[in-house]
Amino acid sequence: MTQRIAPAEGKLGVLLPGLGAVSTTLIAGVFAARKGIAQPHGSLTQNGTIRLGKRTENRSPKINEFVPLTKIEDIVFGGWDIFPENTYEAAMKAGVLAPELLAQVRTEMEAIKPWPAVFDRRFVKRLEGTHVKKGANWMELAEQLMDDIRTFQKENGLARLVMVWCGSTEIFLTPGPAHQTLAAFEKAMKENDPTIAPSMVYAYAALKLGIPYANGAPNLSADTPALHELAMENRVPVAGKDFKTGQTLMKTILAPGFKARLLGVSGWFSTNILGNRDGEVLDDPESFKTKEESKLSVLGSIFQPHLYPELYGELYHKVRINYYPPRGDNKESWDNIDIFGWLGYPMQIKINFLCRDSILAAPIVLDLALFMDMAGRSEMRGIQEWLSFYFKSPVHAPSVYPEHDLFIQLMKLKNTLRYLKGEELITHLGIEYYD
Ligand SMILES: NC(=O)c1ccc[n+]([C@@H]2O[C@H](COP(=O)([O-])OP(=O)(O)OC[C@H]3O[C@@H](n4cnc5c(N)ncnc54)[C@H](O)[C@@H]3O)[C@@H](O)[C@H]2O)c1
Repeated sequence: MTQRIAPAEGKLGVLLPGLGAVSTTLIAGVFAARKGIAQPHGSLTQNGTIRLGKRTENRSPKINEFVPLTKIEDIVFGGWDIFPENTYEAAMKAGVLAPELLAQVRTEMEAIKPWPAVFDRRFVKRLEGTHVKKGANWMELAEQLMDDIRTFQKENGLARLVMVWCGSTEIFLTPGPAHQTLAAFEKAMKENDPTIAPSMVYAYAALKLGIPYANGAPNLSADTPALHELAMENRVPVAGKDFKTGQTLMKTILAPGFKARLLGVSGWFSTNILGNRDGEVLDDPESFKTKEESKLSVLGSIFQPHLYPELYGELYHKVRINYYPPRGDNKESWDNIDIFGWLGYPMQIKINFLCRDSILAAPIVLDLALFMDMAGRSEMRGIQEWLSFYFKSPVHAPSVYPEHDLFIQLMKLKNTLRYLKGEELITHLGIEYYD
């Protein structure tokens, strides 16, 4: 079956709630790539290829030549923040990219000034915002966001829009009565229900306007029955949660390997130091709990202890994040992994990853924006599980467990692209080569 993908004509508005380290690293990178100053490494949509047909056919086009994706030249950025700095100033403050690089994209970045945010300190305790909207209730604030979006679309002549949440991690919430149906959610918004967080208001505004929404942080945001209902009703793609970078990326690379070779794991201790604003927000126990839940979830689902109780039934998994300002965005993580093999003999693996958080996250935001836009043009609606590749806590249907194995996730992503274009799915059976 070939599913129609409408062409990527016209400009795409990429809406970013939260213009901090990740967003500004993305924006500067896209401007730099457009000018040919730097390469957008780490992005499947810019550099990835996809094998088609049999191995003997030697057909491996670039992904962006295989499916119609918006070109980076056609992207226009807009966003909100609780601080009024333009994206050049915010990037300088974040300290991820060198001032020499930022100087070359300064004019474009200075032109992107955040709109006042929807914010409530109850949900991000470590930040105090000055650049914030006022409104009688959440619904009124959602309408103000929708006005910002409409004005942005009109002023820039945008054909389509997508939204990717790059705001701070909010406190841990689980879906309550206000999140069960769209009707209950809308009523709760008008009544200023305390279980509605700002990220939900942005998600609502996007989905209401038919704009695909992806959540890069671990907070609940659109991952509720009410907002999934809205996504289905308005035929809009939705995805999340929590960009898969750094230590969790390493986990989902290594753990499938241990499991493939049936090596047992008795303990996995992970600790991090980081000193950016994200680290400061995560220093608050309630925001950390949201992140912790997200980081802890991956191993259980990869190792499937119910199927391999002797290998993974006793796994002790601990994750710590420590705010340490001197390091800024250059996070350092340590993992100690206690594994065992033949006859139960123990071994240890140590990982010391000196990573750059936003350098790992920026290409993910770009890919998500472009793939979510393509999903919208392909009439794919509701949860986009094929984009699990990018997330620590992939949103999934209630009837299935999430897929965390990076390699299965990549296969799923590429098979989805083949499916959309009516190409044969690749099973890796390969028996025909030996007939
Ligand atoms: N960098 C990574 O590797 C990575 C990985 C996974 C998830 N994340 C998540 O992505 C998000 C962004 O990360 P970052 O490093 O850019 O953090 P950051 O603190 O530099 O940027 C977040 C920005 O969001 C703003 N903000 C907070 N609440 C807001 C609201 N309600 N509306 C609008 N703006 C708001 C803050 O003022 C800040 O400027 C965080 O939630 C982080 O946990 C980052």
